[in-house]
Amino acid sequence: MEYIFSLEFIYLIASVTYILGLKMLGHPETARRGNLIAAAGMTIAILGTIFLYQGEVPQLIYYLIAIAIIIGTIIGWVVAKKVGMTKMPELVSLFNGMGGASAALIGLIEFHHYIGDQLSIITIIAGMIIGSVSFSGSMIAWAKLNGTMNNPIRLPMYNILNNVFLIGILAFGAYIVFSGTESQLYLYLLFFAAITYGILFVLPIGGADMPVVISLLNSFTGLAAAFGGFLYGNMVMLTGGILVGSAGTILTLAMCKAMNRPLSNVIFGAFGEGAVAAGSSNTVLGSIKEASASDVAILMNYSRKVIIVPGYGLAVAQAQHIIHELEQLLESKGIDVKYAIHPVAGRMPGHMNVLLAETNVDYDKLVEMEDINPEFQSTDVVFVVGANDVVNPAAKNDPSSPIFGMPILDVENAKHIIVNKRSMKPGYAGIENELFYNQKTSMLFGDAKAALTKLVNELKNM
Ligand code: TAP
Repeated sequence: MEYIFSLEFIYLIASVTYILGLKMLGHPETARRGNLIAAAGMTIAILGTIFLYQGEVPQLIYYLIAIAIIIGTIIGWVVAKKVGMTKMPELVSLFNGMGGASAALIGLIEFHHYIGDQLSIITIIAGMIIGSVSFSGSMIAWAKLNGTMNNPIRLPMYNILNNVFLIGILAFGAYIVFSGTESQLYLYLLFFAAITYGILFVLPIGGADMPVVISLLNSFTGLAAAFGGFLYGNMVMLTGGILVGSAGTILTLAMCKAMNRPLSNVIFGAFGEGAVAAGSSNTVLGSIKEASASDVAILMNYSRKVIIVPGYGLAVAQAQHIIHELEQLLESKGIDVKYAIHPVAGRMPGHMNVLLAETNVDYDKLVEMEDINPEFQSTDVVFVVGANDVVNPAAKNDPSSPIFGMPILDVENAKHIIVNKRSMKPGYAGIENELFYNQKTSMLFGDAKAALTKLVNELKNM
């Protein structure tokens, strides 16, 4: 019975909830519950630490913890409630930065308590460097995503400079560890150097690569927290840190694969080249065909198989409910309907899954890129709604394109292609899309919600 009320047991329970929660996040059907389970585990761990910790703690510390929890909870709750789905990556970046800052502060506060204990000093320095980079890097990523810092800033030879600076930081950190210095000044210098490196690391990177960067910084924060857990011998912090670190790493690798960019190129390479091209004007590739809602309705009405390709514009228009209605209407007419889900469609990993889950689309209808690509050949109509880059054939055909090599949805293999967007403006990568000029393509212009509403009404009248 005593064990049940021990911190060790509480931490074990909390660690299990993290693992369970993470596993459940892997599927849209269980993701919400998984998130709640992990959050409950975190609450138990915090309460356990506050009420069951055996060491001497001044009363004031408890007051400070209570104030911090109240302020943090209110801010976190309000921000998370208010944030729009399309702004989620920014929020993740901001929260991640706070985690990095916390890990870095542990280093600043604990350093002088552990002088002479080399293993602990290594842990402190490593956690502080990684946490600081994660904090400042996340803040820059946040500013880039919310549009405050639109263009990548690149010093001449930034790549070499950054790497030399990083090596300098690591050497300075090693000096602090192995010289046994007690200098707080050195510690603060290292802290500010790591903060500066985080800024320099993210500044040159273009917006299109921000998701990869955020996910990478997320894994850094996890690692920094794990160092904190190791320092304190706190198992739940260690487990949580390791899980965040490894989940972030897996997501980073998965996104690199989806964008066809090796991780080495992300870490040391000149990435974000896509954003250099962003906004550059491209040559017009021919003439386009326009279709009305009633043309599209007729085409769909006489089809056997329709594949919908959702993209960022679907989220902007908040047209997820009406697209579900379209799907159900077509199905009721005996037409086979599926959704083709590109791994980086939208602005965050799993964006389309989350969006469509909101309207209870059957998960079996959401088909991943590798599985749906062979199906386009046997498809009568592919309906691209608010997607652009993820269906741009330049990724396959044009080696000079910034998105060259990114796997895309092979929509041009379908018999008819309908593209819904508001104008001929480019998507995130800022480049022309020759798909719109394809002989098989017709453009259905307009806001996705309005265009789909018209289309559904036309279909209902047939
Ligand atoms: P995009 O290439 O960004 O294209 C979206 C298209 O939606 C735009 O061309 C826009 O054209 C149209 N649109 C916007 N609002 C609309 C509305 N209300 N109604 C109808 N159409 C609307 O999107 P995508 O194909 O989903 O590709 C995602 C891109 O974002 C990729 O380049 C990817 O690398 C990048 N990215 C992805 C992520 C992740 S992890 N998913 C994160 C950050 C960046 P109009 O303006 O003409 O309407």
